[in-house]
Amino acid sequence: MRIIVAEHYLAHGGTLVNRLLSPIFVEENNQRLLPYRFVTVDEWTLSDIDCIGIGAFSPLKGFLTEEEYDSVVEHMRLPDGTVWSVPITLAVPEEFSDLAVGEKLVLRGQDGKNYAVLTVRDVYLPDKKREALQVYKTTDLAHPGVAKLYQRPAFYVGGSIQVIQRPQPELFANYYYTPSETRDFFRRLGWKSIVGFQTRNPVHRAHEYIQKAALEIVDGLFLNPLVGQTKSDDIPASVRMKSYFVLLETYYPKNRVFLGAFPAAMRYAGPREAVFHALVRKNYGCTHFIVGRDHAGVGDYYGTYDAQHIFSEFTPEELGITLLFFEHSFFCQACQGMATTKTCPHDKAHHVALSGTKVRELLRNGITPPPEFSRPEVAQVLIQGLRKREKMQG
Ligand code: ADX
Repeated sequence: MRIIVAEHYLAHGGTLVNRLLSPIFVEENNQRLLPYRFVTVDEWTLSDIDCIGIGAFSPLKGFLTEEEYDSVVEHMRLPDGTVWSVPITLAVPEEFSDLAVGEKLVLRGQDGKNYAVLTVRDVYLPDKKREALQVYKTTDLAHPGVAKLYQRPAFYVGGSIQVIQRPQPELFANYYYTPSETRDFFRRLGWKSIVGFQTRNPVHRAHEYIQKAALEIVDGLFLNPLVGQTKSDDIPASVRMKSYFVLLETYYPKNRVFLGAFPAAMRYAGPREAVFHALVRKNYGCTHFIVGRDHAGVGDYYGTYDAQHIFSEFTPEELGITLLFFEHSFFCQACQGMATTKTCPHDKAHHVALSGTKVRELLRNGITPPPEFSRPEVAQVLIQGLRKREKMQG
């Protein structure tokens, strides 16, 4: 049992950033912005704008300048030494390469709305090969993060932003809390230690097991599914959110769990993204963060526990959040319960193991995966969700 001393950890870098303009200025700002150039940003960048605005990416106040970018790509740190592992950049087409220092650039969504104003610090041409190798450990275009990196426009613009309005999600809008709100909730709930859980997949028994194992030693669980852009064959966020509702209803004590959406896009950067995910949850007010097997991984690009090993490159003080590492978990027929190789003496033949691809195939065919793998209530939500999506896609 761990003794927790800190009441609520500081935001990363010391201060929780808030770049949201008060809503009363929105109309006024839209008028004021008329003379400025604007760039239309995609869904991915819009989610970065949102995360910067609400302070989830503290200490970032905007998109990385060249100096910051080089430092993050090469050393996983901002120039002042603060740990930061994933470059958060604004990519623009060549026609913007003549932006002047100090110029304002309006960041407009594909819906025509103005979301933010950036004050230009610099414009630079990134070395994408270096970024791919350093951040994703591969230049393979079959890697979804690398593919995205190469699809983005060639130039990056650095500078701080002011957010005019947050994007309005179509569903579950009231789950998009700001870090200042989640911190406030945790305080009011009386939680002194909070474990954050990142996920981009439908919830299965192994997730539940490691969440509950963590809950045995902390006061509360912050379930924080990533709901930004994911690769096309991942289960849509709306379906995943619904799967959480049914799971929480029956299997979790209500006063020990807090569910909130994490608006960011998935990078699939494995180890580097695990560090990033931990720092962001620290900003949301978590004192602990779960990293299991192949966190934020895809395919075979990363070793099963690389996303745990990477944390040894930093001191606990630099990270400011306690990591809870879990082994690969499974249901063991002989133990008749969830386990890992740390707790189960039986060989693999007794373990219920299903790949993500296999599970998706079962669900698509309307077949419920075994209850040892997925709670039946959750499987039903997933089957219905996938059916609905297929119907919509014709
Ligand atoms: S991730 O891309 O968000 O990491 P996923 O939603 O599958 O994917 O995982 C969420 C968290 O649960 C991650 O920390 C991951 O390492 C962990 N995890 C997922 N499945 C298992 C498992 N079977 N055993 C242990 N940890 C797991």
